[in-house]
Amino acid sequence: MCGIVGYIGHRNAWDVIIKGLHRLEYRGYDSAGVALMNGDIKTYKKAGKVSDLENFAHDLDKSGSVGMGHTRWATHGAPSDRNSHPHYSGDGRLSIIHNGIIENYAVLKEALQLKGHEFRSDTDTEVLIHLIEEIQNSDGLELFEAVRVALHEVVGAYAIVVMSNEDPDVLIAARKGSPMVIGVGQDEYFIASDASPIVEYTKNVIYLKDNQIAYIKRDELVIKSTDNRIQTPYIQELELKLEMLEKGGFDHFMLKEIYEQPRSIKDCMRGRIYPNEGKIQLGGLNEYTEKLKNVDRIIIIACGTSWHAGLVAEYLIEEYGRVPVEVEYASEFRYRNPIISEKDIVIAISQSGETADTMAAIEMAKEKGATIFGVCNVVGSSIPRITHAGVYTHAGPEIGVASTKAFTAQVTVLTLIAFFIAEKRGTIKQSELVHLLTELEDVPGLVEKCLEANDHIVQIAEELKDSRNCLFLGRGTGFPVALEGALKLKEISYIHAEGYPAAEMKHGPIALIDEDMPVVVIATKNSSYEKVISNIQEVKARKGTVIAIVTEGDKDVTKMADYTIEIPNANEAFLPLLATVPLQLLSYHIAVMRGCNVDQPRNLAKSVTVE
Ligand code: AGP
Ligand code: GLU
Repeated sequence: MCGIVGYIGHRNAWDVIIKGLHRLEYRGYDSAGVALMNGDIKTYKKAGKVSDLENFAHDLDKSGSVGMGHTRWATHGAPSDRNSHPHYSGDGRLSIIHNGIIENYAVLKEALQLKGHEFRSDTDTEVLIHLIEEIQNSDGLELFEAVRVALHEVVGAYAIVVMSNEDPDVLIAARKGSPMVIGVGQDEYFIASDASPIVEYTKNVIYLKDNQIAYIKRDELVIKSTDNRIQTPYIQELELKLEMLEKGGFDHFMLKEIYEQPRSIKDCMRGRIYPNEGKIQLGGLNEYTEKLKNVDRIIIIACGTSWHAGLVAEYLIEEYGRVPVEVEYASEFRYRNPIISEKDIVIAISQSGETADTMAAIEMAKEKGATIFGVCNVVGSSIPRITHAGVYTHAGPEIGVASTKAFTAQVTVLTLIAFFIAEKRGTIKQSELVHLLTELEDVPGLVEKCLEANDHIVQIAEELKDSRNCLFLGRGTGFPVALEGALKLKEISYIHAEGYPAAEMKHGPIALIDEDMPVVVIATKNSSYEKVISNIQEVKARKGTVIAIVTEGDKDVTKMADYTIEIPNANEAFLPLLATVPLQLLSYHIAVMRGCNVDQPRNLAKSVTVE
C-alpha cells in the first residue's frame, strides 16, 4: 500500500530517500514524510504528495547520511500532517515508519494510555513506537531487542524501519506480511518496499522474509528471526534495470506500459512455446505434471484486474483442458469455508505478489491441502514464496496503478497454462496445438496493429469524455474483457462504468439505456457474433450510443454502431489479448482529457497489502 525507504551510508540521505519515495509513490500517496539523523532525529512530514513535502522542506536543513521516508495510504486516521509518517515515541527519542496494519492497535493503545502514554495521531503505527519505547524503558533493552520483543505483541502486517537518537548509526528493519528489500552497497545499505529505489545504487539485494528483523549499520548487517535465531542473509542480483523505471518519453507510465505490450507478451512467451513441435515449456510446473493430468478441479483466486484474467482462464482451461474451473474473488473466498481437498489445484494471480487478500486465501487453501500455483509479475515478492510452484509473467515493472501490460501478460501465461494442461491431459490434438501456438506467436505483432488505432481512439475519447456513465458488454471471453474495460475507465477517469455479459442486458441493465448512455461492445467475429449484433440493435433501439470493437473489415456492425474500433482477426482464444488494448487506450485518453492523475488515481494504490 505505502512506500518505505531507508538509507545508511555516505550519501546525503534526503536525496536518496526522496528519489526513492518518488519511485514508490505509485504504491500509495496521501501523505509523505522523512526522518533524518542530524545530531538527533529531524522529522519533515505532511499530507499531500512527495513533491509537496519537497516544497515544504525546501529551505530546511536536510543534512545527514542516515534516514528513512514513507509515502502513506491511510488505513487508520485520515490523511493529515499529524497522521503522516514517521511517528515518534512519547519522549521523542524513537521514530518509526510502517507499511501495513497493526490490527490489535486499540488494545495496545489502551494499555499504553493506562501507563501514561499520550498520542499525537489517530494512527495504528504510532502505537507501535510507543510500545517499543515502553518495553525499552521498562526492561532496559537495547533498541534491536526492544523492537523484537514488541513485535511479538503485534497482530497484523508490517514492514517497519525504526531509528533512535541513542543509536544514531543504526537502522532497525522488520517485516511480516508487507514487502521489504535491503540493498547491499559498499559501506552503505538501502531499505525499500521494492527494488525500484535501490536499483540505481546496487544490484545486490536481500529480500527480507516474514518474521525477520535486521540490525543495520554502515558496515554491519545482522538478521535474526523475531524468535531470536540468527539468519544467513541470502544476497541476490537484481534483474531490474533503471531504464525500465523511467517513462521513456511517454507522458505517463500507463501509456508507456500500454505500448510495451507487444514486447511484454513476447517476453512472457520467450522460452516457453515451441510451435513447430506443438510444445509448451513451463519449467515451474514440470514437477506437477501428474497432478495436472489427474486434477478434478481448478480454483482461481485473485482481485481486481487479476480476477478478470482469471475469468479468461476459466474459458480457456475448460475449453482446451476440459477441467472444471471456479474463479473466486480472494477477498470473499478467504472468509467463506470453501470445500477444498488435496485433489484441488489453486491458481493465485497477482501482479504485485503482495495483495493481502490473495495471500490470505492462499494460506487457507494450503491449510486445506490444495496445491497452489502462483502467476505473479514481481520476482521475489511474497506470493511466489508461499506457493508450491508458479509461472512468472515477466512483464517488467508496472508503475501505473491501472494494470495494463500485467493483465495481458497474465492472460498470456494463463493461455499457456490452459494449453499446457490440455497437452498433458491429451485433450488437444497435436496438430491443433501446433496451429494455436503458431498463431499465439504472432499475437505481439497483432497487438502492435491494435496500437495503430490510437489516433482514432483519441477522437472517440473526445466524444465520450463528459459521459457520466458507461456500459461495457461482451460474450464469451469478450465478457471478462468488458469487465476489464469498465474497471480501467472507472479507476482512472472516475466515470461510473459497469461490465456485463451482453445477454444480461435484457435482465435489467437495459433500463439504463438512453441517449446519455454510451455502450462499449466487444463485437468481434467469433462464435457469438450474431447474438452480439442483436444486443447492439437492442441498445440502438433505445437511443444508446454504441462504440463497437470489431474485427478489421467488419461491415455489419460498422453499419449500426456509432463508432467502431478495428482489431486484427485472430483465433477467439486470443481475443482478450487484442480487444483489451483499445479499451486501455480509450480509458487513458478520456482520463487525460478529464485532467485526472492517470498514473496515481485518487484513493487507489498499486499494491493492496491491507485487507
Ligand atoms: C487494476 O487496474 C487495479 N490496479 C487493481 O484491481 C489490481 O488488479 C488488484 O488490486 C490486484 O492487484 P495484484 O494483481 O497485484 O494482486
Ligand atoms: N496503517 C498505517 C497508517 O494508516 C500505515 C498505512 C500504510 O501502509 O501506508 O498510517
